Amino acid sequence: VDKMLDLKAEIRNLCKEKKAVILGHFYQADEIQEIADFIGDSLALAQWAAKTDAEIIVMCGVHFMGETAKILCPDKKVLIPDLNAGCSLADSCPADSFAQFVKEHPGYKVISYVNTSAAVKAVTDVVVTSTNARQIVDSFPKDQQLIFGPDKNLGNYINSVTGRNMLLWNGACHVHEKFSVEKIIELKQRYPDAEILVHPECKGAVAKLADKIGSTAGLLNYAINSTSKNFIVATESGILYEMRRKCPDKNFIPAPPEDSTCACNECNFMRLNTLEKLYNTLKYEWPEVQVDAEIARQAIKPIRRMLELSK
Ligand code: 13P
Ligand code: SF4
Repeated sequence: VDKMLDLKAEIRNLCKEKKAVILGHFYQADEIQEIADFIGDSLALAQWAAKTDAEIIVMCGVHFMGETAKILCPDKKVLIPDLNAGCSLADSCPADSFAQFVKEHPGYKVISYVNTSAAVKAVTDVVVTSTNARQIVDSFPKDQQLIFGPDKNLGNYINSVTGRNMLLWNGACHVHEKFSVEKIIELKQRYPDAEILVHPECKGAVAKLADKIGSTAGLLNYAINSTSKNFIVATESGILYEMRRKCPDKNFIPAPPEDSTCACNECNFMRLNTLEKLYNTLKYEWPEVQVDAEIARQAIKPIRRMLELSK
């Protein structure tokens, strides 16, 4: 415990000394959320990166979050504790295949989820997150043909609530696809008054059970404002840290994955970041997130457009 306290104190000292800010996603390990200057969903992390005056941004999240910050702040150093912190959803959309798909559909506007590589964003008209996807899709004229990638579950959900028929890329997140419908129903029988909170990356059969579908920030706000005592939470279980902190009197139950032998409701990529790696990253200012200048020049347009539309 003492070692951890020292490490935390050292991390804070380094931040002060180097004018660094630590941004953390809600899926990070508890001790990283505890020490971060700011924790939030993907949209908030991008908004925060866009406005910080820190000289170094340490992105405690996954690689695409670091890329987005670097694209928005090309003159700042953007660090990530582990460069291998990727994203299965972003990986389900290789940039060359996606560019080809876009090329085959002239006249379509392209909407990409923020969980994509910078190269995918470079062939995109507007980026969205789970928080603003509906609002941004609604901002297009009804007769505008749209491509939506890469998450088919989020795309299907947005199609259903907006009455659109967007063309979907066939991608998904390995964590959100694995929640068990049967086990959530069993939990609901044990806690009949529990509300079921579901991230839109979950498959449709899980979304059907939801009392609330939303981004991490959306689910957190819903829980804060709800009068219910019990919640079954179908998203990466890191979000429970902030839910429990904000609502100490409420009971949050992580939705179980199909395979009960693994911690599949934790994102192995997000969890690559540790306090030790965070310390080393700050100390050695490494590893740094780099984005090719030409790709960044293209990718900044749809990211800025998202930030404009989300004000
Ligand atoms: P949020 O934008 O809802 O935080 O989601 C990020 C993410 O990676 C979901 O898996
Ligand atoms: Fe990507 Fe899924 Fe991990 Fe989110 S939870 S970062 S979508 S792999």
